[in-house]
Amino acid sequence: MITIETASTAAYVVAGLLFILALAGLSRHETARTGNTFGMIGMAIALVATIALAFDHGLGSGAFALLVAAMVVGALVGLQRARTVEMTGMPELIALLHSFVGLAAVLVGWNGYLHVEAHPLHPAAILLRRTDMLGIHSAEVFIGVFIGAVTFTGSIVAFLKLSARISSAPLVLPGKNYLNLGALAAFVVLTVWFVISPALWLLIAVTILALLLGWHLVASIGGGDMPVVVSMLNSYSGWAAAASGFLLDNDLLIVTGALVGASGAYLSYIMCKAMNRSFISVIAGGFGIEAPSGEEADHGEHREIGAEEAAEVLAGASSVVITPGYGMAVAQAQYPVAELTAQLRSRGVEVRFGIHPVAGRLPGHMNVLLAEAKVPYDIVLELDEINDDLAETDVVLVIGANDTVNPAAAEDPGSPIAGMPVLRVWEAGEVIVFKRSMATGYAGVQNPLFFRDNSRMLFGDAKERVEDILRHLP
Ligand code: TAP
Repeated sequence: MITIETASTAAYVVAGLLFILALAGLSRHETARTGNTFGMIGMAIALVATIALAFDHGLGSGAFALLVAAMVVGALVGLQRARTVEMTGMPELIALLHSFVGLAAVLVGWNGYLHVEAHPLHPAAILLRRTDMLGIHSAEVFIGVFIGAVTFTGSIVAFLKLSARISSAPLVLPGKNYLNLGALAAFVVLTVWFVISPALWLLIAVTILALLLGWHLVASIGGGDMPVVVSMLNSYSGWAAAASGFLLDNDLLIVTGALVGASGAYLSYIMCKAMNRSFISVIAGGFGIEAPSGEEADHGEHREIGAEEAAEVLAGASSVVITPGYGMAVAQAQYPVAELTAQLRSRGVEVRFGIHPVAGRLPGHMNVLLAEAKVPYDIVLELDEINDDLAETDVVLVIGANDTVNPAAAEDPGSPIAGMPVLRVWEAGEVIVFKRSMATGYAGVQNPLFFRDNSRMLFGDAKERVEDILRHLP
């Protein structure tokens, strides 16, 4: 006979498969939309099955009303945020959402403790004792609270850094690596203690310890490594959800949490490879990353160029490479940039784009903007595909990019972004840099490119300046 229990198990398997298909779809531009649809259907099935299961387990009408109210409020807030968020604000929104997953895991863990360990006469506690499973339950509570609390404060710091509410510079406390290692060691000792004798103060201690550790881990990481941190927190939030799944005895939550945890970890690894960063040092809160010396080198004077002269330079070039960055997104300059590309191409100039893997504020940011402005795919090249051609390029237009074209990454071993692959734009014949001032980029480091002999600055809003050039094209 089909019971609610078996039907919901079957629904969970279907939802789990849909989540796997969603991840597969999201890994490519062309299938991302379908992937999203799979994910939404999977989540709808999971919600209905879980509510049915809760009814089967005796959910009262009062609790059901609360559940529906929470879902409606959550859905309304979520819809509103998703509709209004700018592309450039996406990473900070995602970081904030991860903090909710972390907080939920902490609450689920505490709830587990209050129902079982703190309540020895509760039927669940009696059953667990009788089946000798109480120790496992206590370990699940403790580990779930720990991962959840690290994710919670870590994500909040990431949100504050990404939204520039706090400085993106790394916090360097004396002996920071020992602080992290000490916190991990204390966690192991406290876990064993709690499993042997589950006391309230131990749970309070681990919650505070994990909240501080999460804060410290992410605060110790500099701005340049933030993209990796966001995907790493994505991974942590997955493990936090999986831990809650064990505690709530919910297979789908375990599967989904593991999917998010593993895919987030893999994405972090890919990004670390792309940025030549050590994966271990980033997940260990900047382990082995020393504080920058803070000495400001004298780079000399920069030179400027006006839109009219820039238009002449472009009209006389035979090859142009455009390297866009965060500033192009802020200025929404992709439309005039696409127009400039079309105009130059119609005059026989070879125009291509060089896209750095972390240009902008989220993976694929520039590709999405250029696709939006209908720039043909085949002239949009990745860093590895374009870098060797830059030395033979007449003119490079750096539009609102900074860290991703910083020669210090390649030439100054003491730079905070040393070793990060960059677009070697300085090798081109001429470089025109579009930005509003001499301010630094996201990583907060000065860019010697701006002072090179073949570089000129075109100050102002990128969109307005590109439009000026379009007007002056001979
Ligand atoms: P950035 O190094 O952040 O530089 C952007 C530049 O754009 C700034 O120097 C700014 O200079 C200029 N700008 C801002 N608004 C502008 C406007 N309206 N018109 C013209 N210029 C404008 O950008 P990037 O080269 O794209 O590098 C990305 C950075 O973000 C990297 O450090 C990366 O690690 C980090 N990050 C990336 C991601 C991902 S996954 N892509 C996520 C988080 C962080 P002015 O203020 O002088 O105009």
